[in-house]
Amino acid sequence: MSTLEIRDLHVSVGDKEILKGVDLVVLAGKTHAIMGPNGSGKSTLAYAIAGHPKYTITSGSVTLDGEDLLDMTVDERARAGLFLAMQYPVEIPGVSVSNFLRSAVTAVSGEAPKLRQFAKDLKVGMDNLAIDSAFATRNVNEGFSGGEKKRHEILQLELLKPKVAVLDETDSGLDVDALRVVSEGVNRFRANGETGVLLITHYTRILRYVKPDFVHVFSAGRIVEEGGPELAEKLENEGYEAYTKVSS
Ligand SMILES: Nc1ncnc2c1ncn2[C@@H]1O[C@H](COP(=O)(O)OP(=O)(O)OP(=O)(O)O)[C@@H](O)[C@H]1O
Ligand SMILES: [Mg+2]
Repeated sequence: MSTLEIRDLHVSVGDKEILKGVDLVVLAGKTHAIMGPNGSGKSTLAYAIAGHPKYTITSGSVTLDGEDLLDMTVDERARAGLFLAMQYPVEIPGVSVSNFLRSAVTAVSGEAPKLRQFAKDLKVGMDNLAIDSAFATRNVNEGFSGGEKKRHEILQLELLKPKVAVLDETDSGLDVDALRVVSEGVNRFRANGETGVLLITHYTRILRYVKPDFVHVFSAGRIVEEGGPELAEKLENEGYEAYTKVSS
């Protein structure tokens, strides 16, 4: 059972403070949705947890099962069981999807998976996500459609089996069918009841398929309200105006 604990996290980019004291505990077996307006700092939280060098932690702590994540390199965080699906995934020219995924599994698990087993796992993962087999030979994210990028991220999730997954706008740019396929992937990932999911989104659309246990509202670099799934419904109806007024 894994727990990601974020305590009083302050994060700056350059000399601009973006996160102004975030407290959040992502529990094993639970799905936490973070919702909030554009520019409120949701992606900054994801990057800071994952160890992006541009985001400076000025104070606070982040631990996974009691271990200090902030003290770890990006690789060590991944090996500790943290996974980040980025809002805007990067292209890796010259590296095929299958090579990339095998390297990622090797890096995270500490040993290279047997080729035959890996090929099997990859096929199952791709079939689950309704990804065409030709996809495996394409270069990572090069010319991928929005939907293909997101499916590729869920494919990583299926193969890497992290303890905690941070999914930043995994639903953006997906048509209804792709949204369902991607949501089913997230649901498979959390089905064991031991993995935590932090799902960052603007919209309640994905929350119809991936039911959150907790909803946290982000505004101006802080969590300003927390509740259960009913809070998402409220936001859908009323928008974020109430929160943005309070914080400005
Ligand atoms: N690398 C960066 N350089 C400069 N400013 C940044 C950087 N990253 C984030 N910011 C600023 O921090 C604020 C929060 O950005 P962030 O991307 O975290 O918001 P968000 O809540 O994810 O928004 P969205 O819903 O649009 O994805 C914004 O004002 C943004 O311009
Ligand atoms: Mg964002």
